[in-house]
Amino acid sequence: MSSNQSSVSAWIIGVFIFCGVAAGVVILGLAAYVVGEKRAETASVFNNKKVEITGIEARNEKWGLNYPREYETWSKTAETDFKSKHLGSEVQDTLKDRPALAVFWAGYAFARDYKAPRGHFHAIRDMRETLRTGSPGVGGGKDLQMANCWTCKSPDVPRVMGEVGAAAFYKSDWSAMGEQIVNPIGCADCHDPATMSLSISRPALKEVFERAGKDVAKASDQEMRSLVCAQCHVEYYFRGEGKYLTFPWDGGDWGKGPAELEVVTAEQIEKYYDETEYYDFVNAVSKTPIIKAQHPDWELFRQGPHGRKGVSCADCHMPYVSEGGLKYSNHQLRSPLADVSSTCGTCHRDSEEALRSYVYERQDKVIEIRDRLEAELFRAHVMVKAAMDAGASDGQLAEARKLVRASQWRWDYGVASHGASFHAPLETARVLSLGLDKAMQAQLALQPLLAELGAPPVELPDISTLDKAQAWIGLDMPALRAAKAEFVETVVPQWVQSARDAGRI
Ligand code: HEC
Ligand code: HEC
Ligand code: HEC
Ligand code: HEC
Repeated sequence: MSSNQSSVSAWIIGVFIFCGVAAGVVILGLAAYVVGEKRAETASVFNNKKVEITGIEARNEKWGLNYPREYETWSKTAETDFKSKHLGSEVQDTLKDRPALAVFWAGYAFARDYKAPRGHFHAIRDMRETLRTGSPGVGGGKDLQMANCWTCKSPDVPRVMGEVGAAAFYKSDWSAMGEQIVNPIGCADCHDPATMSLSISRPALKEVFERAGKDVAKASDQEMRSLVCAQCHVEYYFRGEGKYLTFPWDGGDWGKGPAELEVVTAEQIEKYYDETEYYDFVNAVSKTPIIKAQHPDWELFRQGPHGRKGVSCADCHMPYVSEGGLKYSNHQLRSPLADVSSTCGTCHRDSEEALRSYVYERQDKVIEIRDRLEAELFRAHVMVKAAMDAGASDGQLAEARKLVRASQWRWDYGVASHGASFHAPLETARVLSLGLDKAMQAQLALQPLLAELGAPPVELPDISTLDKAQAWIGLDMPALRAAKAEFVETVVPQWVQSARDAGRI
């Protein structure tokens, strides 16, 4: 038995023990058998390929000729009809649901438009259509973003990086890559076509491993079932002049082993950013330099009960399917709650209802803290503005702004990873509680200052709807929407046409 198989067996045993099933030689044998059987099936499908795939083939349809089951299930990430209590695959307009977010992001593109993630199939379309990417080429409109924004959307990205180099790719204009980046997240993002093994296609993950003195190529099969996701579902930022996409994990307990304890926390990442006084934008209401969290799914997951026990992302999000004596991985990446029996049910004996309510209970509790934090962070931003209006100097506001920055970082870190309240409930609750604490501390620092300046009582603006919130921060939404509509009607079809002419789709 290879070392990979024995590590897989080890966690499967852990799972069976947890489930209260008698563990022993029988299970060890079974686990090895299941993995061995699956590998043999994969090998047979692999040996019967219909087309030869070489280099970075971004066209998912091509791979589909060889691997129809994986391709068909992958195509289903286009579906948008599943809804759980809080998440799901339909379009969910988060800003509309919680207009205070527009105030947190005032002065930054996120205040224009922010929707919860949906299936991988939609990645390209959503990127083109979000108001965050602006409408370059319409009415003299310039690029709002750089090409680094495309990095986690498409297997065309490693293809183009192979041609022009990662650094040149990152610092191009976003629109300059419009006719290149055309296929949604797919096979070449996670697989090496020559062997069909899982492989890392994005430089940033390899580089952060290298800086820690580790080699991602040496990761076990079971680790790879999470690391392929960690290419994108992580916190990252655009470093320096070249806007080089970088993972800020260097201050973490990373590379110091043992593997399951190698985590990086919100505070370690914050320290990394603070050391260079890094910020993504200055909040337009309170003039606070803010760090925007991305989606630290992997970082938080590692700190939860499943991550600690070596369960992988694919265990829940890509369950095995048995069909006509053949076993394969369901590539319809989505909420595991859409099919509890084939996801959680592989390891847990509890009823589907109990498993679903485990998830909802954790989410509901985290949301209670989140909602309190959002209310108090909003008040803190408005209080800083009130102090500014009453004549406070930057020096007088330095402490309060520091606390607002720290609060917003914790808030964003805790909510931007949509699965975190289940993946790592305790850690997520901890981070959000400390975010609430920082927002209250900011208010405590501001109260005496407001009194000293003789400011009138602070009145919160009416942000009961998104329209009101966006108007208050000064966004002209009708103009932004009209330009985007024209962009989608005129510029996007040109991109699609030239990609088609060049055989890229
Ligand atoms: C987000 C990453 C990801 C993407 C995208 C992806 N795969 Fe996979 N694929 C996986 C993982 C994880 C496994 C399980 C590998 C293992 O456990 O050894 C897998 C397994 C496979 C296997 C081995 C047999 C099986 O089903 O377990 C094949 C064949 C395969 N994928 C084909 C494809 C094809 C074709 C596409 C594109 C249509 C694709 N994959 C897209 C992650 C991905
Ligand atoms: C190349 C980057 C990339 C990789 C690799 C990747 N993802 Fe994603 N993932 C995304 C993006 C981008 C979205 C949001 C797409 C959208 O909303 O248009 C997303 C969305 C999702 C969603 C939300 C789906 C829904 O229906 O709401 C889940 C779940 C998910 N990914 C899980 C995974 C897992 C698990 C892996 C690894 C097996 C993985 N992803 C690998 C970029 C990636
Ligand atoms: C691959 C196996 C596997 C899958 C799939 C799986 N779990 Fe688990 N689960 C585990 C292991 C291992 C633990 C940790 C047990 C321990 O620490 O004793 C665990 C722990 C838990 C716990 C206790 C957490 C705590 O706070 O200690 C809950 C609740 C749970 N799982 C629910 C779920 C749900 C819901 C799903 C599906 C979305 C799921 N699990 C999918 C293996 C799995
Ligand atoms: C033990 C099972 C389990 C594992 C392992 C797991 N997840 Fe999840 N994930 C869930 C559950 C349950 C949800 C919440 C789904 C819901 O509420 O509908 C979720 C939600 C998500 C979401 C948000 C989906 C949406 O609809 O917006 C993403 C993205 C995600 N997970 C990515 C990951 C990544 C990346 C990993 C590995 C680092 C991972 N998950 C590991 C069970 C798991």
